[in-house]
Amino acid sequence: MNGSNSGANSQLILALSKGRIFDDTLPLLEAAGITVKDNPETSRKLILATNDPNVRVIIVRATDVPTYVQYGAADFGVAGKDVLLEHGGEGLYQPIDLNIAACRMAVAVQAGFDYATAVRQGARLRVATKFVETAREHFAAKGVHVDLIKLYGSMELAPLVGLSDAIVDVVSTGNTLRANNLVEVEHIMEISSRLVVNQAALKLKRERLQPIIEAFERASKNQG
Ligand code: ADP
Ligand code: PRP
Ligand code: MG
Repeated sequence: MNGSNSGANSQLILALSKGRIFDDTLPLLEAAGITVKDNPETSRKLILATNDPNVRVIIVRATDVPTYVQYGAADFGVAGKDVLLEHGGEGLYQPIDLNIAACRMAVAVQAGFDYATAVRQGARLRVATKFVETAREHFAAKGVHVDLIKLYGSMELAPLVGLSDAIVDVVSTGNTLRANNLVEVEHIMEISSRLVVNQAALKLKRERLQPIIEAFERASKNQG
């Protein structure tokens, strides 16, 4: 669990993913007095400097943030609840909900597919999703038999080409579902992004981490 970055005197490394998580975390970093010096949309750099020589940001895939933090390669990171549920949360301390990247996890089907009747009749459903653990738990709790098909993106396509009867995906405005003639038939849970901290780093670097965690907490409450 203790990566090479876990010495008490080493720098703090924050793991973020490009796009909405990076964009929505910037104001929280600013509130902690930290300004990132590179823009991941225009730079190919994966380690970004900040105005604080002791703090660096690494850019990783959204689903890899918990892994970097779990092994201590990053001291802390920001990840969606959806991603954390799939990862399992091992080795991670989850101190705060940052209230950013808000969306919901839902079941959707092609318009015209009678989901309620299929469920009532005990049909075995094919469900395509990136979120297999969340989907497995959801359908098990409802007593619905499903065959899960793991995908890595563009879930909305699956019912349109006959790969699946339903999908489990995150929905925000609903625009992607509408554009693909899909409808939401079940709400699974609300999703937002969380700060995650390596458990060893929290002990060894508490003095350095605590003020940043507190600034994030204040700023995330203020932004409502
Ligand atoms: P990925 O490349 O893995 O899709 P994203 O940047 O799209 O990464 O998503 C990062 C996190 O943002 C997700 O784990 C989820 O919690 C949240 N999210 C995903 N899609 C949306 C959306 N359309 N609106 C708001 N939040 C979203
Ligand atoms: C996410 C998600 C949905 C869409 C939902 O995709 O996978 O497809 O957002 O948002 P909406 O309800 O506002 O349309 P994203 O934009 O992250 O694209 P990508 O993950 O496929 O890159
Ligand atoms: Mg996405």
